[in-house]
Amino acid sequence: MARKKFVAGNWKMNTTLAEAKALATALAQGVGTSTAADVAVCPPYPWLVPVHEALKGSSVGLGAQDVSHEPKGAFTGEVSTAMIKEAGCKYVVLGHSERRHILGESDVEVHLKLHTAVEAGLYVILCMGETLVEREKGLAERVFQRQVYSAVAGITDEQWSRIIIAYEPVWAIGTGKTATPDQAQNAHYFIRTKIRSLHGEKIANALPILYGGSVTADTAAGLFSQPDVDGGLVGGASLKADQFLAIVKAAGN
Ligand code: 13P
Repeated sequence: MARKKFVAGNWKMNTTLAEAKALATALAQGVGTSTAADVAVCPPYPWLVPVHEALKGSSVGLGAQDVSHEPKGAFTGEVSTAMIKEAGCKYVVLGHSERRHILGESDVEVHLKLHTAVEAGLYVILCMGETLVEREKGLAERVFQRQVYSAVAGITDEQWSRIIIAYEPVWAIGTGKTATPDQAQNAHYFIRTKIRSLHGEKIANALPILYGGSVTADTAAGLFSQPDVDGGLVGGASLKADQFLAIVKAAGN
């Protein structure tokens, strides 16, 4: 059975409250109740509740950009799985390269967060991707081991159904240098083949693998036409309703 396409917008640390509400309202109108592809947006924490409100009645889902692995307590500045769920989140992005490379998030932290999130019933968008140097040195295998395999160690077969992988080559994020459809397909094929050898046919075939890194309305259709590219995690282009809706359309909505 063909996997359903999924397009998620990662707003990162952008938008005012007014902009967030206007963007969410436009997306809710544009997508309506269509379920041809799954669509979600991941606004900054303080806008989760108002964006959830603005998305009501549409099929656009809500995600957070990170979450704590602690359930509650004295962890100043942290936000729990229970909090984002109560705010309306179905998804959470984990292990984004900006958190790994700029904020120093470790593989151990990503592992702990992923387990906490799937146990809480959230769908995790687990990000992975190589830097330019790693790519040039042919270290794809090692990046996979470090960023995906370490994160999912111990996940049950049932929990795999709540994991989505986002392949985001660091050299393509925010640079305007989108991976070519062939580059994306090769990386996704590699990831799926590894998952197949480690966890079997059923989990590998059902696993959505999104591409992220300078996806635009112009590049989306070519990327999404690849057999192992199941959609996109979109940064910059998700901040403009018309551009994001064009990308959603390229996914079949
Ligand atoms: P850009 O689409 O701005 O390159 O960002 C990609 C990304 O990091 C999504 O998580």
